[in-house]
Amino acid sequence: MNLSAAPAIEVQNLRRSYGDHVVLDDVSLTVPQASVYALLGPNGAGKTTLVSTLATLLHPDSGSARVAGHDVVREADAVRGAIGVTGQLSAVDDLLTGTENLRLMADLLHLPKAEGRRRASELLDRFGLADSADRTAATYSGGMTRKLDLAMTLVGGPSVIFLDEPSTGLDPRSRRELWDIVREIVADGTTILLTTQYLEEADQLADTVGVLDGGRIVAEGTPAELKRRVPGGHVRVGVADAVELDAATRVFPDAVRDDATLSARIPSADDLVSVRDVLGRLEDAGITSASVTVETPDLDEVFLSLTQPAAPSRTASTAKELS
Ligand SMILES: Nc1ncnc2c1ncn2[C@@H]1O[C@H](COP(=O)(O)OP(=O)(O)O)[C@@H](O)[C@H]1O
Ligand SMILES: [Mg+2]
Repeated sequence: MNLSAAPAIEVQNLRRSYGDHVVLDDVSLTVPQASVYALLGPNGAGKTTLVSTLATLLHPDSGSARVAGHDVVREADAVRGAIGVTGQLSAVDDLLTGTENLRLMADLLHLPKAEGRRRASELLDRFGLADSADRTAATYSGGMTRKLDLAMTLVGGPSVIFLDEPSTGLDPRSRRELWDIVREIVADGTTILLTTQYLEEADQLADTVGVLDGGRIVAEGTPAELKRRVPGGHVRVGVADAVELDAATRVFPDAVRDDATLSARIPSADDLVSVRDVLGRLEDAGITSASVTVETPDLDEVFLSLTQPAAPSRTASTAKELS
């Protein structure tokens, strides 16, 4: 078996309830090594519940999950040794300095003293915290605390990192700094599963986005794929004159013509109409100088169309119909 090709995270039919309340209702997902998976969902969608389960802090009711090749229930210790967790489950101690927090983490992980000190100062440098290393974390800004938290998860050299809403509450500059750090970490070969309520964050960082709603992944794909899935995505064809516009709308009966701009919108929500296909079919109809552009909805529209507004009557089955 080629272990290096095994997925970093593999979740199969995971279920978890709190009493009668089904929070995770049959979640399955796979995250390849050295990639970023963004779990996108509104408040209460079950993001932290899923992360806690994968981080071995919660037991699933049924289904299974493997992280870094280990079963999260039967091999919980091995999973814990391979992961880092941050976000809503912050480990930063406000009463300790940046350096002390990192060294404490190194001690908890039983790193040799010298190695722990080296790692601590290296991480403080890397995260731009060296100047504040000797101040208590209580004096740190939100962005600095978040960076220190992330640095602490890296002390043990994890192969998989869980970031639970890493940039919630951060100002735009800190958020961007955090994104840069996440990109660096992934470039080093680490796998990241992050949860977010921010579409832009998923768009910026994720190789794959899973939309969690009503306890299920109601949609999954690259940011570009998701954008193409919702109504609103289309290909716009610009032509030279009204005669060509007539011809173009005969080729694409679904197209919506706009005489004012001599263009037509071809819906591309269902099948992925490619620019090359469109150009080819137009050329076959004698239209050789058309301009073709792909216009995608932004992820906000995707999100709104794929998730339900929170309502007491919401059930998993209605969420499923959306997928
Ligand atoms: N310890 C708990 N006991 C009971 N219900 C919980 C508990 N933790 C979370 N929940 C409920 O599970 C649902 C999902 O919570 P959570 O996983 O924290 O969502 P998210 O992180 O997406 O906001 C929410 O309705 C929440 O109220
Ligand atoms: Mg949460």
